[in-house]
Amino acid sequence: MLNYVHDIPTRLYFGQGQISHLAEELGRFGKNVLLAYGGGSVKRTGLYDEVMKILSDGGFKVTELSGIEPNPRITSVARGVQLCKENDIDVILAVGGGSTIDCCKAVSAGVFYEGDDLWKMVLTSKKAGKHLPLVDILTISATGSEFDAGAVITNWETNEKMSGIFGHPAVSICDPSYTFSVPKYQTAAGSADIMSHVFENYFSETPDSDLADGISESILKSVMKNCPIALEEPDNYSARANLMADANVACSGIPLYGKKYTGWPCHAMEHELSAYYDITHGVDLAILTPRWMRFILKKDPKTVSRFVKLGRNVFGLDCDDELALANAAIDAVEAYFKSTGIPMSLSELGIGEEHFADMAGHADVGGRLTNAYVPLSPADVEEIYRACL
Ligand code: NZQ
Ligand code: ZN
Repeated sequence: MLNYVHDIPTRLYFGQGQISHLAEELGRFGKNVLLAYGGGSVKRTGLYDEVMKILSDGGFKVTELSGIEPNPRITSVARGVQLCKENDIDVILAVGGGSTIDCCKAVSAGVFYEGDDLWKMVLTSKKAGKHLPLVDILTISATGSEFDAGAVITNWETNEKMSGIFGHPAVSICDPSYTFSVPKYQTAAGSADIMSHVFENYFSETPDSDLADGISESILKSVMKNCPIALEEPDNYSARANLMADANVACSGIPLYGKKYTGWPCHAMEHELSAYYDITHGVDLAILTPRWMRFILKKDPKTVSRFVKLGRNVFGLDCDDELALANAAIDAVEAYFKSTGIPMSLSELGIGEEHFADMAGHADVGGRLTNAYVPLSPADVEEIYRACL
C-alpha cells in the first residue's frame, strides 16, 4: 500500500432539505452572487425559482450565467469570467450537473488568471491556485465534480476536451430529490460514469489496498442495485440517494487510497471521442470500458487476478479456470451496461473510424496512456476504438 495525502476542503450537505443552508453558506463569502446553470432543466423542475427566492429573501445581488452546455465549452468559461469581473462577484453558485460545476470551477480560477488565453489556463492548471469560492447544488449523480478539484472543458476550435485542476467547491448541497427529474438516458449514463471512476482506480498495480478495493466494490454493487430501481421509479428516494452518495465518493480520490494512479485510460479515450462528437460522457465510457477490459486482459496476464477479484466480489462468480472467470466478469460488466438501455456501440451514435487515428495520437496527452496500469500505444487505442464500432 502506498503513502497518500488527502485533503477535501468541501463542506458537503447531503440529503433532503439541505438547501436550507444555502443563504448562510453563501453569506460567508459575500452578497454578490454569480448564479450559473445549464440549458434549462433547473427552470423546468422549479429549482431555479426556489433558489431565486432564497437569494432574494437573503438580500443577495444576482448575476446570471445561463446556457452552460453539457461538455462545457471554453467560450462559456470566458463569458463567466467576464460577468464576474464586470459585476464584482464574491461567490459563484452553480446549480446543475458536472458540466455546470466544471464550467464554474474554471470561471472561479479564470477571474484571477493573468494571461489572456483561458484555454492555456485549462491546459496548464495542474493544481488549485487562487479562485473565487464556489458553492454548488448538484442535480445529477455522475461526475463527482461536487467533491473534487478537477474540471473538464472542451475547445471546439481545436477538438480538445481537457482536464484542469482548479480547486474544490467550498460547499456542495447534494439533495437526491433534485435528481428525480433526471431522464432515464442521463440516469444510466451518470451511473456508468460513477462505475467507470471506480474501475479506473480498481485496475491498478497496487493490489493490497483492501480499504480502497472494498469501497470500490461496494460502490459498484450499489450502483448496479440502485440504478435499475431509479430507471423504473425515478422518484425512489433511497435509490437516488444511494446513487448520489456513490457519485460523491467514486471520484473523490478515496477509491485511490494507497494505490498507484493509473492514468484513467478510459477517460483519456472518452475525452477524445467527445471532443469530436459532443456526446454524453457516461455513454462513451459504457461503450469503451468492456472493450478496454478485454484488450488489457489479452495484452497483459498480470490483469487476470484483478478481474478474478472483480468477478468474485462484485458479481458473485466462481470458476476454477481463472481466465474464464476473468472473461465472465467482463461479460457481466457489459451485460449490466446493456441492461440500462444506453447505446453499446459507437456506430449506434453515428461515429465511424474517420478520426480514430487523430484521437489515438492525442489521447496520451500528459502520459496518461503510456503510464497506465497496462500501457497503451496509439495503435492499441485505435484497436480499442475499432472494437467499439
Ligand atoms: O443543461 P441542463 O438543462 O441542466 O440539462 C442537463 C444536461 O442536459 C441534464 N440534467 C442535469 N440535471 C438534471 C437534468 N435534467 C433533468 N433533471 C435534472 N435534475 O442532464 C444533462 C447532462 O448534464 P451534465 O451536467 O452534462 O452531466 P454530468 O454531470 O454527467 O457532467 C458531464 C461533464 O462532466 C465531465 C464530463 O466530461 C462532462 O463534460 N466530467 C467531470 C469530472 C470532474 N469534474 O471531476 C469527472 C468526470 O469523469 C467527467 O469527465
Ligand atoms: Zn467520468
